[in-house]
Amino acid sequence: MREDMAGRLVILLLVTWMVGTAVGTEGLETIDILIIKSIDKFTAILDWNYQCLGEDVKVPFTAVYKKIGAPENESQECVVINCSCNISSDLLDYSHNYTLLVSATTPEGKNLSNSQDFDPNYTSKPPPHVSITSSDGLVMVNILTPDPPNLEEYHLTLRKNDSTEQKFKFSRFRSYIIPPNELLLGQTYCVKVQVYNLKTMELSQFSPEDCFTAPPQELPTNLRTEALDLTYLLKWDWDFDQSPNATFSVEKCYQDVCTKIKGCENITNSQCDCSVLYFGGNYILRASVYDRQREVKSSSVIQFAPYLETVLGPPKDLKMRIENNVLFVDVSKPEVFKNAELDSFCDWLTHLKYWNNSTLNAEEEKFPFFMIESLEASTTYCVKAKMKCPDYNTNSLYSEVNCITTDPRSYLVAWITGFTFLGIVVISVVLYICFCPLKRYVKHVFFPSGKLPSSIDKGLGDSPLACIKQPFLSHEEETTDLCYIVQTSDPEELVQINCKNSSNANSQDSGNYSNDGQPTVETVTNTQ
Ligand SMILES: *[C@@H]1O[C@H](CO)[C@@H](O)[C@H](O)[C@H]1NC(C)=O
Ligand SMILES: *[C@@H]1O[C@H](CO)[C@@H](O)[C@H](O)[C@H]1NC(C)=O
Ligand SMILES: *[C@@H]1O[C@H](CO)[C@@H](O)[C@H](O)[C@H]1NC(C)=O
Ligand SMILES: *[C@@H]1O[C@H](CO)[C@@H](O)[C@H](O)[C@H]1NC(C)=O
Ligand SMILES: *[C@@H]1O[C@H](CO)[C@@H](O)[C@H](O)[C@H]1NC(C)=O
Ligand SMILES: *[C@@H]1O[C@H](CO)[C@@H](O)[C@H](O)[C@H]1NC(C)=O
Ligand SMILES: *[C@@H]1O[C@H](CO)[C@@H](O)[C@H](O)[C@H]1NC(C)=O
Repeated sequence: MREDMAGRLVILLLVTWMVGTAVGTEGLETIDILIIKSIDKFTAILDWNYQCLGEDVKVPFTAVYKKIGAPENESQECVVINCSCNISSDLLDYSHNYTLLVSATTPEGKNLSNSQDFDPNYTSKPPPHVSITSSDGLVMVNILTPDPPNLEEYHLTLRKNDSTEQKFKFSRFRSYIIPPNELLLGQTYCVKVQVYNLKTMELSQFSPEDCFTAPPQELPTNLRTEALDLTYLLKWDWDFDQSPNATFSVEKCYQDVCTKIKGCENITNSQCDCSVLYFGGNYILRASVYDRQREVKSSSVIQFAPYLETVLGPPKDLKMRIENNVLFVDVSKPEVFKNAELDSFCDWLTHLKYWNNSTLNAEEEKFPFFMIESLEASTTYCVKAKMKCPDYNTNSLYSEVNCITTDPRSYLVAWITGFTFLGIVVISVVLYICFCPLKRYVKHVFFPSGKLPSSIDKGLGDSPLACIKQPFLSHEEETTDLCYIVQTSDPEELVQINCKNSSNANSQDSGNYSNDGQPTVETVTNTQ
């Protein structure tokens, strides 16, 4: 897997380089070919117009190789997958040079071709030389190459001597300390190294393997770290009864150099504060003991990466408030995040877990401020939060659980609305039932012999239909009514006016506003 990834990385670098070299050249209508040699094969990396950088490679390359000068029918195919093809070294005749012919049809239907010669005998740099030393608890791989070290990267392969399973490590330095947690006591391991030249992008052949046996654990024993927030304690066991006059020192080791950690030199207790280390660092720590009584010195090593191993304290300040049926939760970062190094180490997320007592479901979100909507009444909502760095799977502890209970549902508004409505209905019914008897009563008392004045008559009506229709009287009917009121003062005139108005068909048709028929016509008749 890792080898595959490394290979892809190299290819990506190469393609990027090819693109880089192609920039500025006018004609992109050519196929780029780069042939690199590794231990057992030649790899051709192809590109056209940067197409191979895209996610979706569309150019179908065809590649064949043959000895230079050989006829076409002796060509062998080099199967192209993802813009590259491999030619196994076994298939080549080392007494001849070869040519690789590549062709492709662009999506526009253009035929392109290019070729590149290569020499099977071509050897890149000689393989590096590797030696392994084991002293004072450290197992170190020392790499020797003829080139200046600043242009090189070293690809190390570590395997158990009785296994083919390999672990890959990268180093920019020629001294590489094998992390102690990679090694099992007494197990034999073999290491080989390949050099990658960052300038020529050539990968050397592997060095011959060098094997070693992982050294046994030395004193002091049980080396361990206890890291909380940014306080890192390195601890170890020591038998003070047997050796009371021992002194300890702690160093951090990098490449082939170990430097003493301040405050951890010649100490007499079995722990030391290494909080000077960087949060994002990955360290190899060495604790050495000097037993004066027996004049013995020994060391033991441990790997320590604070960002992976530190227990980060929980967020302490969770604020919850409910507004308009929405629960707002604000989570403040823990105090320790005031440390700029820690805070900038990662795009920290605040991770909230919440649940309520009625459904018991727990949900999580990943935002700095939280809103929980559609709260249920009389329900207890509980939350807890932690900080999370997804890139490194680093988490703080969860905060304490904070809870808040929503109010019982308020029915006051519903009650008021309901009663108001009910009141209106009841009053309407009462009025409806009382109207007609009231009219009869009014007529009986005030107008025992005659008719009710039409204003009262209309106002009261005496059939339910009339009561309802009253407010919708047409304009013409009202005019007619006016005629009636002034009739006694000037009948002649009124008759004329009245006749004109009452000739309107509307007033005749709408006779059902009165049981007495057509009052206007009758009135006219009376006055004449
Ligand atoms: C290729 O063709 C030549 C004649 O043109 C013939 O002599 C030769 O045997 C062929 N080679 C192969 C591998 O078919
Ligand atoms: C192959 O090519 C190299 C140059 O790249 C040349 O030095 C060598 O002589 C050639 N070999 C043959 C067999 O033609
Ligand atoms: C490209 O090559 C194919 C055969 O490989 C041929 O059929 C086609 O006509 C060619 N197109 C052009 C534009 O030359
Ligand atoms: C691997 O090393 C162990 C000693 O650590 C040895 O006994 C064993 O024979 C070795 N196996 C191989 C395959 O070399
Ligand atoms: C430890 O050192 C003290 C003086 O530094 C000495 O008196 C004592 O005897 C020593 N203890 C042992 C066990 O050597
Ligand atoms: C620690 O002890 C060594 C000798 O055992 C001495 O050389 C060194 O100076 C001491 N360091 C400190 C800080 O006391
Ligand atoms: C949830 O908690 C509230 C307040 O503690 C309580 O009144 C209610 O009955 C609880 N609901 C359930 C389903 O337990």
